[in-house]
Amino acid sequence: MTTFKAPSNIALVKYWGKKGEQLPANPSISFTLTHCYTETSIDYERRSESSIASGDSFSFNFSFEGQPKPSFHPKINTFFERILPYLPFLKDYHFNIASHNSFPHSSGIASSASAMAALSVCLMKIAKELGETYTEEVFWQKASFLARLGSGSACRSVKGSIVVWGEHPAITGSSDEYGITYPLPVHEVFQNYQDTILLIDRGQKQVSSTVGHNLMHGHPFAEARFAQANEHINQLVSSFASGDLDHFMEVVESEALTLHAMMQTSIPYFILMRPNTLEVIQRIWQYRKDTKVPLCFTLDAGANVHLLYPKTSITEAKWFIEEELAQFCEGRLYIHDEVGQLI
Ligand code: PMV
Repeated sequence: MTTFKAPSNIALVKYWGKKGEQLPANPSISFTLTHCYTETSIDYERRSESSIASGDSFSFNFSFEGQPKPSFHPKINTFFERILPYLPFLKDYHFNIASHNSFPHSSGIASSASAMAALSVCLMKIAKELGETYTEEVFWQKASFLARLGSGSACRSVKGSIVVWGEHPAITGSSDEYGITYPLPVHEVFQNYQDTILLIDRGQKQVSSTVGHNLMHGHPFAEARFAQANEHINQLVSSFASGDLDHFMEVVESEALTLHAMMQTSIPYFILMRPNTLEVIQRIWQYRKDTKVPLCFTLDAGANVHLLYPKTSITEAKWFIEEELAQFCEGRLYIHDEVGQLI
């Protein structure tokens, strides 16, 4: 049995728009979380000749949180098809795949990144058990490469704690094909940065990310957006080095609002924020103005708000969340997480 826990990640500079086969239209950068993760275990055994001859390309079972989930089979099948050229043993074995999340699945927190990353690393471990040899570096690179073919942002979920995906001239070693650990200096204020996920809307996503990325094809602002993401990475490189939180917060909030602006200005258009998302954003701005506590927000492609702050501001942040923000969360629910390295 092989097992791996892959973390969730939250993008600071967003990936929104693809080119080619799951390649990003712009580079992105994310924080890796530690409390929100997917843990996947795989048992495997060699298929009989008759099973292989039966015509089914792949043979596997999938269970999620202890329950068989045949509804996930087509997604896994498509993923296996895509990665078969890189892991040819997939057709020769039967796999029992079991997975669970550390966070509630009806939370509106996207789990495809951590799920695809966990599955990819498990498959890489199996490849090793079956005799493949990799250097440490190539092992993680290939795991990230495979994860990307499952879900783009999953390539940023195999390692921590700050990950870059997509070629950028300021970041040596960056690649469109896999994520790399951020290689440049990071000020200590970013150590164990905090992320409290405010669960504004625990429903299903209104727009799948596949549909979302495609909306950037022919989008009137696409080229300007891709240029802006590149420039935002330059700006984060300088904030990470200097520890300038004001600049960091400005870039991060601008990215979140731009992501939503792109969705609001595509055809078809979507508004994924809820009234409570806006209420929370206004309160964060007011609180920051009044107290100078460096709290900022980012958003995924949904209504939930990620509240980001340095570890030194935990006491103030916890008070602010309980007293002011929790009332806007569904069932007053939120999840405290922190940036780090799961493995
Ligand atoms: O990995 P996907 O295809 O689910 O896309 C993720 C897109 C965002 O979460 C909105 C941004 C990002 O970079 O994670």
